[in-house]
Amino acid sequence: MEQGVSNPGVISLAAGLVDQDSLPVDEVAQACARLMAHPALARELLQYGATPGYAPLRDLLARRLAEMDGLAPGENDLCGDRVLIGAGSQQLLYLVGEVLLDPGDVVLADAPTYFVYMGALESMDARIVPVDADDDGLVPESLEVRLDEIQRRGELDRVKFIYVVSYFNNPTGMTLSADRRKQVVEIAKRWSRASRIHVVEDAAYRELSYFGDPPPSMLRFDPDASTVLYAGTFSKPFAPGVRTGYLVAPRDLVGALVRQKGHHDFGSANLTQGLVLEVLESGAYDRHLARLRTIYGEKLRLTLNTLQDALSPLDPQVEWTRPTGGLYVWVRTPAGVSTGMDGPFFRDCLDEGVLYVPGEFCYPPGVEGAPTNFLRLSFGLADARRCREGLNRFCRVLARCAGAS
Ligand SMILES: Cc1ncc(COP(=O)(O)O)c(C=O)c1O
Repeated sequence: MEQGVSNPGVISLAAGLVDQDSLPVDEVAQACARLMAHPALARELLQYGATPGYAPLRDLLARRLAEMDGLAPGENDLCGDRVLIGAGSQQLLYLVGEVLLDPGDVVLADAPTYFVYMGALESMDARIVPVDADDDGLVPESLEVRLDEIQRRGELDRVKFIYVVSYFNNPTGMTLSADRRKQVVEIAKRWSRASRIHVVEDAAYRELSYFGDPPPSMLRFDPDASTVLYAGTFSKPFAPGVRTGYLVAPRDLVGALVRQKGHHDFGSANLTQGLVLEVLESGAYDRHLARLRTIYGEKLRLTLNTLQDALSPLDPQVEWTRPTGGLYVWVRTPAGVSTGMDGPFFRDCLDEGVLYVPGEFCYPPGVEGAPTNFLRLSFGLADARRCREGLNRFCRVLARCAGAS
């Protein structure tokens, strides 16, 4: 894999990185210049900040989220003092695990799911229990079945949260439907008997929607604001290099999360928080996002069209998702074509000069019967020309292997 990544002849449809050419260089240069033109503000931002984050940014994020969710200001207690800023949403998701989990505790997660976070949870000795998902995201009935099984084992008190990548999931690209959002929150509340079961909504790709607005977040369905933790990020819709993400948490968890954050770093970079606030307030962020949506929307269309043209003769042996946002498409290969890194299909793709993420990484470890014939393609990093070329290479290999299987 490393060889593949360092070889410029290899096109990576594996990396979850964002589009290189559209990174907001001018927007950031101008915002920095504006900030540094005000010495008092510049000095404030160059000083240590507050551990939970820069207060004006926390307030603005609460207002923006409320608007996106169709909530009145302050409705469902969506206020700035429930917002924490972190070094990317990854840090905040990690903190959530640290605060909520003891070794051996259970996290329910839609499968397949974001493999990096599974690694973090594993490092805390959490047990990850997979919940079925389909084109509308996590299946509520499957969630109830899993909870019932856990209760029968007498372990309900070990279930601490349900982790859901709720918009344009990494890796499948699918979004949790509005009806199911409500059901998932209700199920979490109803099963909060021995101890509270939270819902951790990872909304990393929410703003990367290319064909219309996705449903409101699960914060909308949590009127007493006790259940849902919502993680957002500026990595995907702006620039990962600013390393700025945010978390909305129930009020009674904020203190513990802030204390834990203090142990890590006593606050994320004040300067980049000031920068993010500046691009939000000036409108540069929204203008950039509109441009990104066009660029990614075209790359998504190109990806789906290329797959359709090349792979439809292999239908139904080969299937793939048709997302309307995010960075990923999830492909099912024929049962005989294993996508693992040790298999011939992965090696053939590498020989042809294209990389993907084997699907087996996206299932919790130790899951019996986890399928071996899925993979993730990303159209994020490569420009349109390389994306098309990479997909053509991939489809050639797949057609060859599917014919032989
Ligand atoms: C689903 C999901 N959540 C969270 C993250 C973390 O992103 P960041 O720490 O850059 O905000 C990623 C990054 O790829 C992701 O795919």
